[in-house]
Parts: sequence; structure tokens; C-alpha cells
Amino acid sequence: MSDQLVTTDLLAAMLESIEDDLQLSIRTLKDAPYQEMSEMIEYHLGWHEASPASRGKRFRPLLTLLCCQAAGGDWRSALPAASCIELIHNFSLIHDDIQDESDLRRGHPTVWKRWGVAQAINTGDAVFVLARLAGQRLIETGIPPATSLQALTVIDQECLNLTRGQFLDLDFEKRESVSESDYTEMISGKTCALLRASAQGGAIIAGTAPQSIEYYRTYAHHLGMAFQIVDDILGIWGEAEVTGKSSEGDLRSRKKTLPVIYGLEHSPKFSQIWASERSSAGDIEGMRLALENAGADRHARQMADEATSLALRSLKSASPEEAAASELEDLATRLLARKR
Ligand code: IPE
Ligand code: IPE
Ligand code: MG
Ligand code: MG
Repeated sequence: MSDQLVTTDLLAAMLESIEDDLQLSIRTLKDAPYQEMSEMIEYHLGWHEASPASRGKRFRPLLTLLCCQAAGGDWRSALPAASCIELIHNFSLIHDDIQDESDLRRGHPTVWKRWGVAQAINTGDAVFVLARLAGQRLIETGIPPATSLQALTVIDQECLNLTRGQFLDLDFEKRESVSESDYTEMISGKTCALLRASAQGGAIIAGTAPQSIEYYRTYAHHLGMAFQIVDDILGIWGEAEVTGKSSEGDLRSRKKTLPVIYGLEHSPKFSQIWASERSSAGDIEGMRLALENAGADRHARQMADEATSLALRSLKSASPEEAAASELEDLATRLLARKR
């Protein structure tokens, strides 16, 4: 996670262990004829340079470890699940950048931009399988087989929901009209699903009661809502040098993000530019201004705030262990205020 989000020794220790466990998860691919595939994976995971910014925030695996600890477990026992989740996230990003035709990820050219679409699909597939294999290491760390299977099944189910959400995201680009409730359904899949998997995975491994697992699931679901809404805001108003992603891509590709849905409902000026075929720099700026004038950014912020409050309420209901709970609270508020 970025330096601004790593605030305590516990998070720093978790982050270091996540990096080690991820290294362990991909080491099988380094043999001679496959070196370039391994290079593509290491590049995407951000290991080709010293700066942690190119690795991404790694907050999903942190969520798994923190929820395990908060639910009474030992976070180290959840490391294989944390790697599994982060690798699923990264496989989905390699494919997402192809689907969204995005040139930039974490400040670097995307995998498909550097190696072509065909090999990027292949590499994404490999990362997906490495994720599954990482998850299966849970049994080696002493988690009972039935508990491991329960955690891995939840992760698989949520991964399917992620893919279904990605389907809707692309489908919405072609649809004339998309409502806020359509949007909520879509992000519940493409983004919240993996966060739910992260939190539930940790809680299941801790061996906590079903009701408690449900509270962690609900916490992560709302956190995911807030997270994606902030991502939508950053996709329009963020600074590309900070986000490491294009700040024009979403408007240019006519993504039905939350501010856009609001703009289409409330701003004739925005709708007019949106409907035109052109996407000059002036058009993008015109759309941004029209959204601001209609209050679309404020509306989105408010929805993200509300989702964060719901997340925190559910976390409280889980009666989490104190130190991990305060990390999970902090995580929610810092993700809301993030700039990348
Ligand atoms: C990007 O996720 C994809 C979304 C669901 C918005 P992150 O913003 O967590 O990506 P990294 O891993 O930190 O780069
Ligand atoms: C990414 O969604 C979600 C998944 C990869 C499942 P977006 O397309 O909105 O995220 P960014 O902005 O490219 O990171
Ligand atoms: Mg996408
Ligand atoms: Mg994308």
C-alpha cells in the first residue's frame, strides 16, 4: 500500500509478509523457456523497480489479514488466502486493461501495451491459476481442510461475481440509459465482490461464527461501494501522475460511472457533449465542467461517505479484536480520502 496508507508496524509487517508470500506463489514460473512470462507477471506486480507505488496499494490482502486477526485468528495463517486474493485482483486488472483499452496502470504502460493483447490474455490466465494454487497452500499452513475449502469456495464464488460485474460494466457502455441501481448492481460485482471475498476469507480462516463472518462480509461490501465510487471520481478529477492511470479514459470511452449517470440525469449540457461522437481535449474538459456545475462530484462523494458509514457500522457489530479493528476503521477512512 502507498506510504500514506501504511501507518503502523502491524501494517508494515503484514505488507512485507504479503510480498514474500506473493514471491513464493509465482516462483514456479521462472524456468528457462518461460522467463518472459515471469517477467510480464513481475512487471505487472511492480517488482521491476524499487518504488512501492508501482505495486499498487495491496489493500485487499491487508483486508484478509486484518479481518482474520480481528475475528480472533493469527493473521499469518491467512497469508495464502491473501496472496490468492491479490493475484485474482491482478489477473483481473491485466484483463481489465485490455477490455478498457487502458494504456497506463500504476504509472507504467499496461501489460497488453508492452507485450500485445494475446500474450497479456495468456499471462492474465496464468496469474489466475497461480491465485488458485496459492489458495490451496492454506492446508499446508495448518488450516483444517474443511475450513480451507469453505474459504476457497467463497473466493471462487466472489470471483465469478467479479467477472459478471465486468460483463455488466462493458455492457453498460453500449446501453442508452443506466440507472443508479443498475450501477450499484454492477459495482457490487466488479469491485465489492473481491473485497467481500477478502474479508470473509480472513474471518473464515479465523474460525469465527457465521454471524460474525456475515458482519465482515457486509463491512467489505460497503467499503467496496465507497472504494469504487472514489475510483470513479479519481477517473475524472484525479491527477494522472498520482493515480498512475489516465484521467480522460473513463470519459473518452463513455464509461457509465456514477458521476456520469448523475450528469446524464441532471445536466442537459453534459448530455449534449456526451452524445457527440468527438472526444477532443476541449470536449473532455467541457464534460468535466458540466458535471461540476451539476454537482455530480458532490453527489458521488456523499454516496461514498454514506457507504463508508454503513461499512463502519457493520464492523462494529462484528465485535472485532481491538488493534485490528482500529486498523480496519482507519483503512475505511483513508481509502475514502485517497488520491490514488
Ligand atoms: C483498481 O483497484 C481496480 C478497482 C476495482 C477500482 P486498486 O485501486 O486497488 O488497484 P491497485 O492494486 O492499488 O493498483
Ligand atoms: C476494475 O474496474 C475492476 C476489475 C478489474 C475487476 P475499473 O476498470 O473501473 O478500474 P480501473 O480504473 O481500470 O482501475
Ligand atoms: Mg473496467
Ligand atoms: Mg479499467
